[in-house]
Amino acid sequence: MKIGIIGAMIEEVTPLVEFFKNQGYKIEEIALGGNVFHKIIIQNDTLYIAYSKIGKVHAAITASVMIARFECERIIFTGVAGGLDSRLKVGDLLIATKLAQHDVNITAFGHPLGFIPESAVYIEADGALNAIAKKVAQKLNKPLMEGIIASGDQFICDESKKQWIIQNFQASAVEMEGASVAVVCNAFKIPFCILRSISDSADGSADVSFDEFLEEAARVSAQFSIEILKELGVKI
Ligand code: ADE
Repeated sequence: MKIGIIGAMIEEVTPLVEFFKNQGYKIEEIALGGNVFHKIIIQNDTLYIAYSKIGKVHAAITASVMIARFECERIIFTGVAGGLDSRLKVGDLLIATKLAQHDVNITAFGHPLGFIPESAVYIEADGALNAIAKKVAQKLNKPLMEGIIASGDQFICDESKKQWIIQNFQASAVEMEGASVAVVCNAFKIPFCILRSISDSADGSADVSFDEFLEEAARVSAQFSIEILKELGVKI
C-alpha cells in the first residue's frame, strides 16, 4: 500500500524521517509543488512523508500531490494542536472523529457557519483508521482522546476566540490544516486519519506554550503514527 504522512512543520516530520534513517532505510527525496516528499520503500509498502508548511492551503496542496501524483491510498496527518477540551494537557494525543473549518462563513446565503459549498460543515475521518489508532493506544496503554477538530488559518491564542470555536463547532482541539486534508481526501475518496498531540491550550499563553512544547508534542504524535503504520501492516 502507498501511504502519505503529512505534518505541517518540519518539526512534525523530522522525528519520522530520522526514525527511518536510523533504521537504515533508503530515503529518496522528491521535490514537487513547494514540498519535499521523502519516499521510503518497505517491502510491499511505500511511504511518502512531507511537511506541507502551515495552513489549510499548503496542507491541501500536499495531500493532493500525495494522492493524485504519488497514488497514496491512505493519508495520516501527524502534528500538534491547541487543546480546547480542558481534559487535554500538553503531550496528550487526540484523533479527529470529524473536522470543520472554523473560519469559513457563508452564513449570508443561509448556510450554517463552517458550511463548505456542495459539502457539509463536518467531514468524518475514516472509521477503520481511527479504529487502528485506538487499537494501538490500547496495546501501548496510552490514553487517546477522540473528538472534533476545528481548523482555520489562525493561531488561536485568545480565550474568547477559543470559547467561540468550542460553542460553534463543539471542537476538542484546534489547528490549521486537518479540515483541509479532510476536504481533499473526501474529494478523492481516500481514507484519512488526523492525529494530534497537544502543544498548548489555545488561550492567552498559547504562543509561549507552543514554542516550548512544539518539538516534544510533535515527537509524541510522530512516534504514535509509526505504531499506526505497524498496525496497518507495514513491515517496519
Ligand atoms: N496548533 C497548535 N496550537 C495551535 C493553536 N493554538 N491554534 C492553531 N493551531 C495550533
